[in-house]
Amino acid sequence: MKDKLNEIMGNALSQIEESANLDKLNDIRVAFLGKKGELTSVLKSMKDVAPEDRPKVGQMVNEARARIEGKLEEKKSAFEKAVREEKMKAEVIDVTLPGRKKEIGHRHPNTLALEEVEKIFIGMGYEVVEGPEIEFDYYNFEALNIPANHPAKDEQDTFYINDKILLRTQTSSVQVHVMEKGKLPIRMISPGRVFRSDDVDATHSPSFHQVEGLVIDQHITFADLKGTLEQFAKQLFGEDTKVKFRPHHFPFTEPSAEMDVSCFKCGGKGCRFCKGEGWIEILGCGMVHPHVLEMRDIDPDEYSGFAFGVGLERIALLKYEIDDMRLLYENDKRFLSQF
Ligand code: DAH
Repeated sequence: MKDKLNEIMGNALSQIEESANLDKLNDIRVAFLGKKGELTSVLKSMKDVAPEDRPKVGQMVNEARARIEGKLEEKKSAFEKAVREEKMKAEVIDVTLPGRKKEIGHRHPNTLALEEVEKIFIGMGYEVVEGPEIEFDYYNFEALNIPANHPAKDEQDTFYINDKILLRTQTSSVQVHVMEKGKLPIRMISPGRVFRSDDVDATHSPSFHQVEGLVIDQHITFADLKGTLEQFAKQLFGEDTKVKFRPHHFPFTEPSAEMDVSCFKCGGKGCRFCKGEGWIEILGCGMVHPHVLEMRDIDPDEYSGFAFGVGLERIALLKYEIDDMRLLYENDKRFLSQF
């Protein structure tokens, strides 16, 4: 019995010593100490041992088990240590290497200009609304008092998708969507992209951005329009900015005007920036045409309103003194990183 135990133990210990990895080690554990393992079968044969010898044999078996378990544990931690060291080696960090610099992006001048415009109007209690870029002819033209064959349709060379659907030529279409919701009063601005089949040059692009404005309530007058837009100009270009309204024509407003601001570069004396004029045109505006209100079931005897449309690129070019609109679209980082 003793010899058999010694033989089993010797076998176990040398197999453990020679094992190659944790899996092998586990196989060995099962082969010797498992339910059907060699050492276990010795325990099972205790019944054949003379009763007086049993405690002694039992003790020997226990000692053998303890030595095998101890050896298994020792080998196991050796393997684990080796794995850890391998991993540490692979993950070594050279702290003397120079860091990799992450480039920080810049907001586009258009975005900066839009944020300023939005901030000003939100400060006056306006809501910011979005409308679709692909639009029905009806919303872009007809509901804005521009019927078929109206010359204004030619002025805005339109990209048609079919005879009813087009890429909007103006954000004024959003006025119609907002009025259609039927909730009054209205005080909103709507920034967005518009499209016209223009050739690209320093002041034109087939796709650019506008910010539309619409206010409808009881007792809204031209004085409200003037006060609001003057306040807008002063906040955008500085307190000393003066504004001037010139009569104009838009089909959806009556009366209509264009608003100029005094040149913030020369203060109105005339310079290269304002082409010697002292004034710079920045937006179109007017009192909402009664017919436009009626088409949306708003009673023009009870309600009135004003509207305006600003070219966003124009604001960005002026504010950041950029003299060519193409720079805004070329995504040249040397240009964009200046803002
Ligand atoms: N939609 C006009 C355009 O694209 C700009 C404009 C003028 C909008 C007067 C308005 C307005 O709301 O009242 O030229």
